[in-house]
Amino acid sequence: MTSTDQPSPPPTIRREDYRPPAFLVEQVDLHIALHPTATRVRARLALRRNPAAPATPALELDGEALTLLSAALDGAPLAADRLHHLPGGGLRIDGMPDSAVLETEVEISPEANSELSGLYLSGGNYFTQCEAEGFRRITYFPDRPDVMARYTTTLEADRATCPVLLSNGNPDGAGELPDGRHWARWSDPHPKPSYLFAVVAGDLVAVRDRFTTRSGRAVALAIYVRRGDEDACGHAMDSLKRSMAWDEATYGLEYDLDVFNIAAVSDFNMGAMENKGLNVFNTKYILARPETATDADYEGIETVVAHEYFHNWTGNRVTCRDWFQLSLKEGLTVFRDQHFSADQGSAAVKRLADVRRLRSAQFPEDAGPMAHPVRPDSYVEINNFYTATVYQKGAEVVRMMRALIGEANFRRGMDLYIARHDNQAVTIEDFVRAMQDASGVDLSRFSRWYAQAGTPELRVWEAFEAGRYTLTLSQSTPPTPGQPDKQPVPIPVAMGLIGPDGAALAEPQMLLLEETEQTYVFEGLPAKPVPSLLRGFSAPVKLSGLTLEQLGFLAAHDTDAFVRWESSQQYATAAMLEMVAALRSQKPLELPEGLAAITAALLDRAMEDPAFAAEALALPSEEFIADQMAVADPEAIHAVRHFLRGALGRRFAARFAALHGDLAESGPYRIDGAAIGRRALRNAALAYLGAAGETARAEAQFAAATNMTDSLAALRVLADSDSPAREAALAAFHARWKDEPLVLDKWFMIQAMSPRTGAAAAEALSHHPDFDLRNPNRVRALVGAFAAGNPAAFHAASGEGYRFLADMVIALDAVNTQVAARMVSPLGPWKRQDAARGAMMRAALERIAARPGLSKGTYEKVSKSLA
Ligand code: PHE
Ligand code: ZN
Repeated sequence: MTSTDQPSPPPTIRREDYRPPAFLVEQVDLHIALHPTATRVRARLALRRNPAAPATPALELDGEALTLLSAALDGAPLAADRLHHLPGGGLRIDGMPDSAVLETEVEISPEANSELSGLYLSGGNYFTQCEAEGFRRITYFPDRPDVMARYTTTLEADRATCPVLLSNGNPDGAGELPDGRHWARWSDPHPKPSYLFAVVAGDLVAVRDRFTTRSGRAVALAIYVRRGDEDACGHAMDSLKRSMAWDEATYGLEYDLDVFNIAAVSDFNMGAMENKGLNVFNTKYILARPETATDADYEGIETVVAHEYFHNWTGNRVTCRDWFQLSLKEGLTVFRDQHFSADQGSAAVKRLADVRRLRSAQFPEDAGPMAHPVRPDSYVEINNFYTATVYQKGAEVVRMMRALIGEANFRRGMDLYIARHDNQAVTIEDFVRAMQDASGVDLSRFSRWYAQAGTPELRVWEAFEAGRYTLTLSQSTPPTPGQPDKQPVPIPVAMGLIGPDGAALAEPQMLLLEETEQTYVFEGLPAKPVPSLLRGFSAPVKLSGLTLEQLGFLAAHDTDAFVRWESSQQYATAAMLEMVAALRSQKPLELPEGLAAITAALLDRAMEDPAFAAEALALPSEEFIADQMAVADPEAIHAVRHFLRGALGRRFAARFAALHGDLAESGPYRIDGAAIGRRALRNAALAYLGAAGETARAEAQFAAATNMTDSLAALRVLADSDSPAREAALAAFHARWKDEPLVLDKWFMIQAMSPRTGAAAAEALSHHPDFDLRNPNRVRALVGAFAAGNPAAFHAASGEGYRFLADMVIALDAVNTQVAARMVSPLGPWKRQDAARGAMMRAALERIAARPGLSKGTYEKVSKSLA
């Protein structure tokens, strides 16, 4: 943190400055006596000089918010002249022998920890979060992922308030102590980096199950939750068992401990954490009952449970050398969880959802002030780099690599990667090298995808003459901060050619665009084809150059579901951009007949694949449209989208009403792809009817709904409408769910994202007694959802939206700096707004920047946004 009067900028950490650690830790034995305000942590570290590092006489240990009580080296207390406190809170010990045992004791206060990093209290129970740099808030340690050690952890607490005592690894003894206290020891046989350390303790109950690995290891599974939530763990447990089986079947990877524990916590900075043998989850990604969780929540649980489980090999057994390599574990593990979820249901629909998410979160990031490569070159605060680029684009890069080398080679590459690097902390180059060695394919140029920020733009030109079709593809990547000049990247373009009657004119193939421009020639075609490009979204790029006519044709005729969806989205995007232009020159808005025709065709085939139809019927988001404009116009974009939804709703009112009626649930509620797809389509129809001003159905559905998907879909329609039922529905929902925090989050979120909620109303919600700055889920539900999901209100011409966000960031920065820094993002792209808005956004950023004592994470976001 910077000091109040002389703020000096926090240091930048650079990848090229990496040096191996001077000392390694062989064994860590922790003894933790839990207490809300005075937890005592005794650590015994067996240290050894690292033969791979230049010899230094001093040992440096990280530490933050620790009170040192004692320190001894090889059994003798350390003299004051050998022990130095470092500025950031760490320790330096001089005169180190080549190997030594260091014993320290510190005191920490879980209750005072509102950062939710290190050891903290939530609802009276103890949880830890150590990634990325939280272990240093528990004890002095070389807190970097390339220091891998074996751990034992002995926990001690009151039996009455803390019956459950959990840590990593396998249970290794437990017993009673005087004064109503008890202890439990855990021992983790696998060496691990400190960021995977975890403790969970308190009054929790376990839901138990078993899994036998294919080599016959019996694994005791448990999910620990608060009493009363036991009935809400079934989907998470089922997802866990399917993940374990999938990783065995797909990659031959088995679980490697006797127990696998998950604990759920309401106060959590992220989604979940892959601590070895003891995953800690945000309750949002564990708890689900049909009455309280939507279909999207169920899908989120399946994905996140799988993601954390898959980290056991990609992240834990093989970990990152340093935090610049974060995508080594995150990109790869997202790729694996996406593949898993695709295997569970409709792969095509899953792909659309993944692409939609990439484009709504990652593309804007790549075009904004925080743009960075999948493997960043520098950071100020590593917590700011848990981004869509590292996660989602990182997964796309792995996916492209698999497309280039083929599935069988990819599997051999994974085997080789794990065989070579088990129990090591490695780099992205090591991963690419394994893939290259296993496949024999030169991936050196491909590695540019890891080094270069920005979204490549792909353009298409065509010519056709006498049966000869010439397709020219060109690429360019716009400059990003610190990277003015870009090189071409290898872009795999999965494609096909379609004849006028909709039949394929050539075998589907994969073109590889490696240069700035390449031309491909197809001979002997009976007619001019329409090119179907980027099938399955084979590369994370922006494609342009097809005509509206071609897009309409592809939307109707392509065999590839992705291209059909994409073409209808691109068609709608082009139409909406034209309408925005029309509106700005005061022309009246009309429903474009081409879009109506696409919608009619989608409706004709809707029942063939309801989940796909629901995705395809959704118009591109306001954010996506804004992203296509040099200077956005949030009001005009909102007006156009609002108009179109209403016009389509009116034009096809009878068909939407029929769909809504026909798809009514009969029989018991089910969570499977087919049932989810039917609900999605039915609720898409409901929303179009609502947009056309028909809210009676939404009212009826809201009153009758027995599951959260239908209830929330109806509430959203009412909340977005000017129906007199709006306020009553919101009040009823609050009254019914005020004691269910995850549902209350939805109540905040629906309002935060409603175009009928202006900045003033969002601000008023921040004073609601149920709003809580200390709970990240609640902050995301109101502040995050408003700033990122309600563009018209956030960008209100008055500047109130910006002021509200800046006020929230400032207040949050004093409570939880990680969450505060995340909330800054929507203020970043001020260059994409008009001059008046841009100036107000900058003023909001400057007001945050001027706060004395601002955290380095928020400082980094704000200063990079202003640059
Ligand atoms: N490593 C976690 C995941 O992606 C995310 C996380 C990062 C959680 C930092 C907490 C803190 O699975
Ligand atoms: Zn992860």
